[in-house]
Amino acid sequence: MTTVHETTAPVATPTAAAARITARLTREQKLSLVAGADFWNSRGLEAEGVPSIMLTDGPHGLRKQAGTSDHVGLNDSVPATCFPPAVTLGSTWDPALIERVGRALGRETRVENVGVLLGPGLNIKRHPAGGRSFEYFSEDPLLSGKAAAALVRGIQSEGVGACVKHFAANNQEAFRMRLDTVVDERTLREIYLTGFEIAVTEAEPWTVMCAYNLVNGDHAGESRALLTDILRDEWGFAGLVVSDWLAVADRVKSLDAGLDLEMPASHGAWDKEVGEAIDGGRLDAAALDAACTRVIELALRVAAERAARDGGLGPDHDAHHALAREAAAAGTVLLANDGVLPLAARGRVALIGAFAETPRYQGAGSSLVNPTRLDTALAAVEERLGQDGSVVYARGYDAENGTTTPGLVSEAREAAAGADVAVVMIGLPSTYESEGFDRTDLRLPPGHEELVRAVAEANPRTVVVLSNGAAVEIDWADRVAAILETHLGGQAGGSALADVLFGDVEPGGRLAESVPVRAQDLAAHANFSDHPTQVEYRESLYVGYRFHDTWGIDPRFCFGHGLSYTTFEYADVAVTGTGADREVAVTVTNTGARRGTEVVQLYVHAESSAVHRPEQELKGFAKVELEAGESTTVSLPLSHRSFAIWDVAQGGWRVEDGRYEIRLGSSSRRIRVATTIDVSAGETVTPTRRPAAAIATDAEFAALLGRPVPTPRPLTPLHLDSTVNDLTEVAFGKGLRKRLLAMFADKMDVSDADPATRAMLEAIMGQMPLRALVLSSEGKLGFGVLRTALGLLNLLPRRR
Ligand code: BGC
Repeated sequence: MTTVHETTAPVATPTAAAARITARLTREQKLSLVAGADFWNSRGLEAEGVPSIMLTDGPHGLRKQAGTSDHVGLNDSVPATCFPPAVTLGSTWDPALIERVGRALGRETRVENVGVLLGPGLNIKRHPAGGRSFEYFSEDPLLSGKAAAALVRGIQSEGVGACVKHFAANNQEAFRMRLDTVVDERTLREIYLTGFEIAVTEAEPWTVMCAYNLVNGDHAGESRALLTDILRDEWGFAGLVVSDWLAVADRVKSLDAGLDLEMPASHGAWDKEVGEAIDGGRLDAAALDAACTRVIELALRVAAERAARDGGLGPDHDAHHALAREAAAAGTVLLANDGVLPLAARGRVALIGAFAETPRYQGAGSSLVNPTRLDTALAAVEERLGQDGSVVYARGYDAENGTTTPGLVSEAREAAAGADVAVVMIGLPSTYESEGFDRTDLRLPPGHEELVRAVAEANPRTVVVLSNGAAVEIDWADRVAAILETHLGGQAGGSALADVLFGDVEPGGRLAESVPVRAQDLAAHANFSDHPTQVEYRESLYVGYRFHDTWGIDPRFCFGHGLSYTTFEYADVAVTGTGADREVAVTVTNTGARRGTEVVQLYVHAESSAVHRPEQELKGFAKVELEAGESTTVSLPLSHRSFAIWDVAQGGWRVEDGRYEIRLGSSSRRIRVATTIDVSAGETVTPTRRPAAAIATDAEFAALLGRPVPTPRPLTPLHLDSTVNDLTEVAFGKGLRKRLLAMFADKMDVSDADPATRAMLEAIMGQMPLRALVLSSEGKLGFGVLRTALGLLNLLPRRR
């Protein structure tokens, strides 16, 4: 007998529901939905039950501003926990901890009724001087991808969307809105896309943000190869692609490429062009439908998650502060220690440097968070010492600009001479690194350097504490007893520092980026932030430790480095499995007298190869915490991708048969045990030659690119993508630029900004593409008028 089960109608998936709504809309309605309603909100459609949702920064704390237009940090955002930025989170090498941070971020986001938190950022730190290095995790794609995936999982577990950004090859700030990144396909795949691939495939972010820059000739937001072929078709991304703010250069092309939502509002500026392109057969109407459906789907998803969780408690700010403190300590790297650390919690401590009172704890720009509270090292060290000790504080320098005076130096020297230990807090003042511009070198402020030298002379027990968002040159490293790299500690960085100094907590971090001896050593330095329209990645794969290890240029401190307060031994490495699917096991023992954490790092080295490849590459890692005397077996899986290279000729990942060394170490340079295995996956690779030196010549670069090295686009004639600064290329342009900058400054009320924000705003206003004048004019200025004006300007004589 057959039983007939009664079936209920299948629950409509958001996609199906969204597609049905789209099918009912007019073209005007669709066009209105695929651009923002204002600076932070998408447009809703009440009659169809589509809510408007808020998308806002991000990434290490919620930056939700009141009102509809951004004031880039001038107008305070709602208080939110300022977790340590990505530079510090990446240095924890601890996805589980990063996921917990993500969950807390997600909760704060949801409680404020924000639908998407604009983060994490996971661009590769190609050069440490990149202005947004503090917002990115690492120079290594595996570590970046795993950290980003963890943050995405955490954020989205609270029913709000994460946004993986900036896709792709956005590795410097200078000229970012119209810079063409020229990079060979293999390097793009292996270095710059792999992190995104990991985050997308492992954590399924609801949204991805396209970058401002161009990649090999196309704006990232107009690249069908990036947004559709790779992101959706290859990686299976099912979410929404949003533009970076004001990144849309041509809406017709961007719709065709797969860019769904333009942010912020463009007030219908593109509607006519898009409509004509559809009618003229230059744009498939289905592209607009697809974008519209994804916008609706995201809004419905946000609403459904919100409804399912309504009534939840607000965030526990105390618990989040405690988590921020834990993360800051876990991302603190002990670079050097002659035994002075951890400090005894008694005696006289000289605490030197204005950062002890005015912490440098986050970076400037769109990620600026208004913290719920702010711990200082001074208060935390005083509290920790209590009655058993005393703190003498000397300011040492000006917190804002880093300058010192003979008086401040001698005060610091005196404080140090009379103390049991001197702790000097130095690093990069906030005006040194920011979104919007790059550093020109990796030097510390001269005042900070002078202070360190003076204090180290006065007291051999000098501990230097660094606060900076990216690597700095440390040529005084041998003169001091210990160096702690705290990166940027977030709002609880001050108390986390006291935890680490006194050994209450391990300095849990390991360098997620190499610290070069000097910037000029780096191959990337020769082609970085130096040309207004083009950047050439002539170093190809050789970024960070891949560069140092392959070309034999020693860094000051290597990738993966970081000391513990205890010691570890590695033994019994064993590899099981066949082909490229392997499992590597190693026994790690805490041989010291106290509990500690170790980051076990696995590097793969190909013994011989027909293709050029880095000396070694990180293919696995695990963080373990062990009691004194305790042992554990760490297992790390390896797969096809762990051995594969991107074979340009074959258009795919291929494993070369051969012998590989599996290296396990506590840093990229401190390999503790190694073994070799023979791998055969039955594939062939197309041989390629490595450039003769670290910086490819024209001919070598052309061979890598598979085409001639493109000629950089000239600054004139002016066009829609030209920047406000480019106006100076034509006669009378200087005056025009000045007036535009004054107009922006007035609109943004720059005069009230803190110095870091002011520096950032000045940089981004000059870099603003002229098309932004139309997009932000709220319909007052059309593209036709701007094109005519540019045509007239182009008739004027050139400046040179
Ligand atoms: C930044 C993004 C940010 C957006 C919104 C842009 O300038 O590049 O990272 O999310 O602004 O503030």
